[in-house]
Amino acid sequence: MLSEEKNRTLTQVGPGTPMGDYLRRYWQPIAGESEFDDKPIKTLTLMGEDLVLYKDLSGTYGLMDRRCPHRNADMSYGYVEQSGLRCSYHGWQFDQQGGCLHQPYEDTCDPTGRMRSKTRIKAYPVVAKAGLLWAYLGPLPAPQLPDWELFNYKNGFAQIVCAEIPCNWFQCQENSIDPVHFEWTHNNWTLRQQSDDVDYVPTHLQLAFDEFDYGFVYRRLREGEASDDVMWNVGRVTLWPNGFYLGHHFEWRVPIDDHRTLSILWVFSRVPTEQEPYVQDKIPTWYGPIKDPVTGRWITSHVANQDFVVWVGQGAITDRTREHLGQSDRGIVMMRRRFFEELDALREDPGHVPKGLILDPEKNHDVFLPSACRDELIQGLDREQLAAHPLLGPYLKDFFGQAGQPPHVRAAYEQAVGQKMNGAQFFAVHGSRR
Ligand code: FES
Ligand SMILES: [Fe+2]
Repeated sequence: MLSEEKNRTLTQVGPGTPMGDYLRRYWQPIAGESEFDDKPIKTLTLMGEDLVLYKDLSGTYGLMDRRCPHRNADMSYGYVEQSGLRCSYHGWQFDQQGGCLHQPYEDTCDPTGRMRSKTRIKAYPVVAKAGLLWAYLGPLPAPQLPDWELFNYKNGFAQIVCAEIPCNWFQCQENSIDPVHFEWTHNNWTLRQQSDDVDYVPTHLQLAFDEFDYGFVYRRLREGEASDDVMWNVGRVTLWPNGFYLGHHFEWRVPIDDHRTLSILWVFSRVPTEQEPYVQDKIPTWYGPIKDPVTGRWITSHVANQDFVVWVGQGAITDRTREHLGQSDRGIVMMRRRFFEELDALREDPGHVPKGLILDPEKNHDVFLPSACRDELIQGLDREQLAAHPLLGPYLKDFFGQAGQPPHVRAAYEQAVGQKMNGAQFFAVHGSRR
């Protein structure tokens, strides 16, 4: 249980709030590069700030305030130029650093450009990596954008899967350190959606949570599992501050504002060795629906959707004064405590380096994170081994990660792995274990 005040501290993300300023110290994934294949401009809200993300005619990405500093016109209706974005009202043009390149009429009246040199628009750095666009909204200089090892694995098909979730980011992130929910939110719920006459999956017996540089590792032992099981020996990573790493995919919970979160999955599927060498020409991005248009209820069929349902069900900003934490919540308690320590440290010492930031470019190559399927993803598996693999095999049958995979992504995946997916069988046979 937390006080109302502490709950506010964890959940408020606007500029000038303790958590908002803290999260701004980290690069955040905000969109997919492929979203700019057919348009140059996208509006988005990040941590309460209304912004415009664009790709200019030279192919450079930028992120700036949605309001023009001249008379507040909407920059998302501007047009991209060779460098930067031009407002469609009076033609003021701004570059990626927020400098003003052109004020057509003012420049004519005052060719020395004194007013122009004083005019700035709020702008933030954007970098493309792993098919994602990443933004940094904190004080400069920016830290390194982490070069996680998984981004560099070969012979794989990656896809970026997004959804806008109508609740606060922190309850989404608490799910990244909540092992027991796999049993009930995913395994058993999936089975029960098939039939009332099922045996529940083996229950959790033991949990362990350990902090490390880039977050926490949590491990679990279920009934019938030996102590050399990878989920006990290796586990999963609660990636600091708002990510989750499951060995073959990442999840991020990026605050849009206090009441909305952008969920981004980055899913890597190693192709069978028979398909090698495989080089993916472009990482696709897609947005899945979260509501069933017929019933108006949340979609419950896929793993991420099941997560969304429980997060949103907790309330737009869950009321932590009402909760009753138990033994299964030990990780959540550790994570909250760590955030409070970090916020205190930053308040007392503005020079405090937030947890897990990589500052040294020399240390930012293939950064290692524990993974229960690392060897398999690096070395590869033949088709038969891959199909039998408990974590990776199910992806050959269906994309059960999130509802709504577009046909063209499915087709590209099937071509990459060299076989057709056969859908529903997976849920009937296995439940959504991951
Ligand atoms: S409002 Fe943007 S140039 Fe005038
Ligand atoms: Fe989950």
